[in-house]
Amino acid sequence: MDTSKPKKTRIVVIGIGAVGSTTAYTLLLKERMDELVLIDANQAKAVGDALDMNHGLPFVGRTRVWAGTYEDCREADIIIITAGAAQKPGESRVDLLKRNVSIYESIIGEVLKVNDHGILLIASNPVDIMSYFSLKKSNWPVNRVIGSGTLLDSARFRYLIGEKLNLDPRSVHAHIVGEHGDSELPLWSLANVAGTELVLADEDKEEIFTNTRDAAYQIIESKGATYYAIALALDRICTAILRNEGAVLNVSTMLDNYHGVSDVYLGVPCIVDRTGVREIMKVNISDSERELLHRSADKLKNLIQSISV
Ligand code: NAD
Ligand code: LAC
Repeated sequence: MDTSKPKKTRIVVIGIGAVGSTTAYTLLLKERMDELVLIDANQAKAVGDALDMNHGLPFVGRTRVWAGTYEDCREADIIIITAGAAQKPGESRVDLLKRNVSIYESIIGEVLKVNDHGILLIASNPVDIMSYFSLKKSNWPVNRVIGSGTLLDSARFRYLIGEKLNLDPRSVHAHIVGEHGDSELPLWSLANVAGTELVLADEDKEEIFTNTRDAAYQIIESKGATYYAIALALDRICTAILRNEGAVLNVSTMLDNYHGVSDVYLGVPCIVDRTGVREIMKVNISDSERELLHRSADKLKNLIQSISV
């Protein structure tokens, strides 16, 4: 009889600001793991959040939560990184690049000292370039370095389409791909409800996409940061990994001749399971969508040249 106990699942969140604390709280509410570790440069914030969450355990149960150190990454299955600078009103995501690359230099270095088997889930912006940087710096297999990509943007897109058509957004299948940012694009050619093409006027499509692309600017202008929906998106990715789901999610991954695009991380439909990104779905796209995808890739490649990787 095998008496060995099953290994405890552990998620470490690095960066316990607006996004990190909301993500940790979401994971806790949904009881996704046995152990949840919070790490922040501001240790007092991580300690306070861990204490606060622990006081909620009588209402949710089971999970062990603590404010930790990089040593706690040793046993981590998933390491979510949400540390770093965030946009102020008027800033774009790529304005954060230099600041966040220097923060990631030290964070990834610390993680690598103790862990060579986990999955890095990157959320800090500009998320596609931070993911590319994390892959190069870690030298881990590409399937285990994942960016949150356009999963959040696709959720905003599905929500707005659902609002327009008076449908549950979960019944709307629609994808935003490319940069998680200003050069992203909608794949209208694939959007459907129950396999049926969407009946939307061109001006409605334009309005839906503009509101999707610019949603973060609107929220940051009104309350300073976005965190609830990204927390749910990160929870969705963790669930696909921990439950070995094989879910199709628009995460950011390294492309290798994807419609002619290579050597850049972009959000595209990927199959996500216990191994991380198991496979990239090579969906059919129109010629104009292909052109926009190339433009998005070229923008990010130019920016990658401005940092040392
Ligand atoms: P925030 O300022 O509230 O939190 C950032 C946290 O990082 C702070 O607690 C800070 O102490 C910590 N930090 C800074 N340097 C660190 C280091 N070296 N080690 C450990 N911790 C460190 O910011 P936020 O609103 O939580 O946003 C965090 C990041 O997530 C930003 O880059 C933001 O643009 C990005 N974001 C991404 C998405 C997405 O869809 N991928 C959505 C929302 C926000
Ligand atoms: C978002 C962040 C700011 O909410 O990237 O899209």
